[in-house]
Amino acid sequence: MNNAELDRSQPLGLDIGTSRIVVARSVGGKPQYEAQLNAFVTLPHSRLTESLLRGEGVFYEVQGREIVVAGNDAQKFAEILHVETRRPMLNGVINPREEHALTVIRSILLKLIGRDGGQTQKVTFSVPAPPIGGEASIAYHEASCRQVLTELGYEAQPIVEGLAVILGEMESSNFTGIAISCGSGLSNVCLAVLSLPVVSFSIPKAGDFIDAQAALATGEMAIRLRVLKEQSFELDGFSGDRVQNAITVYYDDMIRSLVEALREGLAASGRLPKLDRPIPLVLTGGSTMPRGFRQRFEAALRPEHLPVELSEIRLSSEPLYSTARGALLASLC
Ligand SMILES: Nc1ncnc2c1ncn2[C@@H]1O[C@H](COP(=O)(O)OP(=O)(O)OP(=O)(O)O)[C@@H](O)[C@H]1O
Ligand SMILES: [Mg+2]
Repeated sequence: MNNAELDRSQPLGLDIGTSRIVVARSVGGKPQYEAQLNAFVTLPHSRLTESLLRGEGVFYEVQGREIVVAGNDAQKFAEILHVETRRPMLNGVINPREEHALTVIRSILLKLIGRDGGQTQKVTFSVPAPPIGGEASIAYHEASCRQVLTELGYEAQPIVEGLAVILGEMESSNFTGIAISCGSGLSNVCLAVLSLPVVSFSIPKAGDFIDAQAALATGEMAIRLRVLKEQSFELDGFSGDRVQNAITVYYDDMIRSLVEALREGLAASGRLPKLDRPIPLVLTGGSTMPRGFRQRFEAALRPEHLPVELSEIRLSSEPLYSTARGALLASLC
């Protein structure tokens, strides 16, 4: 779909994630998605480079003496130039040490959703829940994203990522259940009853943690491990391959931490409602995609005693889109 075809009065859902920014829009009553990598590379500015990029239709902006190539094109250039992509976000929020962070997020948003057409379009954007045992400037992150969207002309409202997943995935249980989104910077958890969040938190272990720790253990580059993990990794026990094993070890570490945090988070909440029936638990986010993830999670959870009874543990059918879909639903309400 090109920008000219878009209905500028329709509400939008945005998943502003550490790895990817996803927009969901309702087209003919069905959600449609578009995504860009939340990443960039910089090149020294010259008129020649700029005209070459323009000729190739590359998505770039000039900033001072640099050309910033952002979004999906950044990956292509990183491969050509043998450099690592840089990322505006770290652990679920704007990276305070990255000078280009906000301008890159702004230009990716501009590419994905453009400027508001003048009818004050509603946009709901995802934000992470407060992390357990960590610090994150969620208030600053949320205010900055809202500021960028407001400046682009939108009426912007935040939604906590876990709650967005509840809206996107749990219509059949009246928006009651537990959502776990294992992304890149964080794993977000939310227990909601009738769409109201009761317990909501995040842990700083997700895909980036697995890549970085497995890289340390094997001496490989994190980016290489990430590519291997996304292309061929399966969570099916011991494989004899040291890289696969290192990734498995840190997947197990993440799953253990998640299960422990879930048990403690639910037990510590003094306001768990009385539920008259078991509730579903859904797993989503890019890091739940390797084959065997659900079984591994279920096995880790089995010995734990949760203060709520579960009816099922299932994987999302669209792990890369459920946050954006829920944010869209919030915008439509
Ligand atoms: N097929 C796959 N197998 C394993 N991991 C994958 C796969 N596809 C993506 N990932 C991992 O999922 C993560 C990205 O997931 P997602 O897009 O849900 O994160 P995000 O929403 O951008 O981040 P966050 O919610 O933490 O801010 C990355 O760590 C990536 O390596
Ligand atoms: Mg996410």
